[in-house]
Amino acid sequence: MNLVLSRRSLFRIAAAVGVAGAAGAWQLAADSPDDRLHLTSSARLPEPFTLPLRVPRALAPIRRDATTDYHRIVQRRANAVILPGYSTPIWGYQGIFPGPLLVSSRSRRTVVSHRNELPVPVVVHLHGGHVPEASDGYPTDLLLPVDATSAHEHMMDSDPLAHTMIGERDYIYPAGQPAATLWYHDHRMDFTGPSVWRGLAGVHLVVDEAEQRLGLPSGERDLPLLITDRAFDATGAFLYPAMDPTALHTPGVTGKFGRGVLGDVILVNGVPWPVHRASTARYRLRLINGSNARVYRLRVEMPLGDGHFVQIGSDGGLLDRPRRVDALTIAPGERYEVILDLSGCAVGDRVTIHNDLGDGITTRVMRFEVTERIADSSRVPDRLNEITPLDRRAAVTTRRFDFRRGDSGSMSGWLINGHPYDPREPIARPRLGDVEIWQLSTDLDHPIHLHLEQFQVLSRNGGQPLATDAGWKDTVYLGASELAEIAVRFTDYPGRYVLHCHNLEHEDMAMMATFTTHDRSSSDGIAAG
Ligand code: C2O
Ligand code: CU
Ligand code: CU
Repeated sequence: MNLVLSRRSLFRIAAAVGVAGAAGAWQLAADSPDDRLHLTSSARLPEPFTLPLRVPRALAPIRRDATTDYHRIVQRRANAVILPGYSTPIWGYQGIFPGPLLVSSRSRRTVVSHRNELPVPVVVHLHGGHVPEASDGYPTDLLLPVDATSAHEHMMDSDPLAHTMIGERDYIYPAGQPAATLWYHDHRMDFTGPSVWRGLAGVHLVVDEAEQRLGLPSGERDLPLLITDRAFDATGAFLYPAMDPTALHTPGVTGKFGRGVLGDVILVNGVPWPVHRASTARYRLRLINGSNARVYRLRVEMPLGDGHFVQIGSDGGLLDRPRRVDALTIAPGERYEVILDLSGCAVGDRVTIHNDLGDGITTRVMRFEVTERIADSSRVPDRLNEITPLDRRAAVTTRRFDFRRGDSGSMSGWLINGHPYDPREPIARPRLGDVEIWQLSTDLDHPIHLHLEQFQVLSRNGGQPLATDAGWKDTVYLGASELAEIAVRFTDYPGRYVLHCHNLEHEDMAMMATFTTHDRSSSDGIAAG
């Protein structure tokens, strides 16, 4: 049995005796890079491509005024039918998985009031959002349950800077962010993996007029597709190898799952290997990898052999121009928007999306079945968006972050620059207005994500970035022993944010770091190293 001591208990010890520096204490089982385990379901699984895709409908605001749309979401336990014949207990935004689809207009402010009726604290993060600190979902800014007990209140002492609330909390998303496919999910320190796995994830789109004028496929042919893997026990409940099934006290996962938890069932919008009845038209697919640790390589199979996608967007919105891609690698946290063109298909054709990184049933993702011939008036223009390249010569600072497994004091876990996540110690203090170059390096593969700003990938391993690195990104997937350079301009919102690995088990086992942003006038920023 591994000794596991939470950073939280260490914080309390540290506070009591006045020592600085806190560390977690996971002992990752020794493993080799290729023995990634996946969980095996014991429930009866459906035949792939038999269950209809669920297309989320936009949540209606509870109230609107001149500037703002107000939404309300209750986080609660519920039972969901995911596998036919079983009922799966979930934690859901509004009691559903995925959570309700939120749609914001670029010109309007969005306020989402969350109420926590779950048995655990929560933190809501808008992934990809350009959001002030108070609403970003910093991992210790807890929203405690409405009926919080002392079992929860002890968590408030884990971080003296945290803004903890009880019961309800408003998350305020300012107007102004360009159209993009964002998603929201739980982000509680140490417990993001199990909370998201139980269902706390949903899609949040920002739309704007420039995008709407382009004539891209829209309405029922604009499909958000949240892809997640899961596994199910014999009763239909989610399997997750938590050290502590209550997700209250002891973080981490058992045995070799420290590499990341993989399931054997691929869900799209919460449906196992769905099929979607389609017409002979172009579709805009907003692909979102909401899996804890699974990376997919998506490929289209048309009736007459291989098909392709046309990429039109990345994490931060539309690309400058469309790009053809034959297969698309998508890691946890990443989004790609693609056009899938079924206009040349015949009624009766089947078009299947495969995962070339899977094995057995995880090689399948979903299928389109062409059932109707229509005339399609959508367009994919050659110019989609204006993207000004960030110039490396404009950068004022270059920083380096090494994402590695390692030991720090008593702990063995996932570290950045040799340190486990510590909310009190910023690893960087960029000034607002500056462009910086961040060099990111890996030991094994890690999807690396920044809060607050979208960035551009400048290079990989000293050479050109990948074609799919184009556009604005907030998550970049690095393979083993890679080094990427990204350029990021810090624009506004002073405060405390994180960068982290988006493999949620790595994140929970400390592969996260704080950075703080500072106004130009602030001496704090100038002193930054
Ligand atoms: Cu999608 Cu910090 O997370
Ligand atoms: Cu994020
Ligand atoms: Cu990682």
